[in-house]
Amino acid sequence: MTSVGRTRGALIVFEGGDRCGKTTQCGKLVERLQSQGVDACMWRFPDRSTAIGQAINAYLAEHSSMDDAVIHMLFVANRLEKREEMLQLLAGGTTLVLDRYSYSGVAYTAAKGVPHLSLEYCKSLEVVLPAADLVLHMSMTAEATAARGGYGEERYEKVDFQRKVMEIFGALRDDRWAVVDASSTIEAIHEQVVATVMPVVERARGGAPLGRLWD
Ligand code: TYD
Repeated sequence: MTSVGRTRGALIVFEGGDRCGKTTQCGKLVERLQSQGVDACMWRFPDRSTAIGQAINAYLAEHSSMDDAVIHMLFVANRLEKREEMLQLLAGGTTLVLDRYSYSGVAYTAAKGVPHLSLEYCKSLEVVLPAADLVLHMSMTAEATAARGGYGEERYEKVDFQRKVMEIFGALRDDRWAVVDASSTIEAIHEQVVATVMPVVERARGGAPLGRLWD
């Protein structure tokens, strides 16, 4: 994907297992960026507000069942339906902080171990989306997140499954990823996140090109 100019926003993604504290950290990061004069906003994937997102929500709440290939496509479509808006915001200088993105998409589906839904196949469906400038991997054991309040309410909140997801996140890491110890305190995590994010925001502002997924 080509450079979108000297003033583009950064694409910052939080990834991790269920209940690892991503949402709290996304919110705190956006507030901090805004307080420092950075135009920033937070999105969540799945975006449950769209028609596709509502079908995903029903599936996650176990109010409906769906073929694994079909629900995977819906998660992908839920990102693709936001592609144009995402690119426009970034090009206009807004830093986007995402609570999950395509990395969750491929990791959760590949963790199911369905032969025709391999990691490579899943990756191939999202090559038209921008890559994150930075993935903050909130790392914590599946057992530790399971001990947190509210765990087990949604479809994928099962320790064995989460363990497989963690393994795949580990395999996806490259030099755009930073690992954050999600078992630390909210404030300590926040400070580590801010220190990691600021140089990335500066690089994007300075014209670093936006990448394409998996390149
Ligand atoms: P999320 O709303 O982030 O839940 P939580 O706050 O508990 O982490 O994500 C809902 C679930 O959907 C979560 O189990 C991860 C899963 N998921 C996928 O399977 N594929 C995807 O593409 C995405 C974005 C999430």
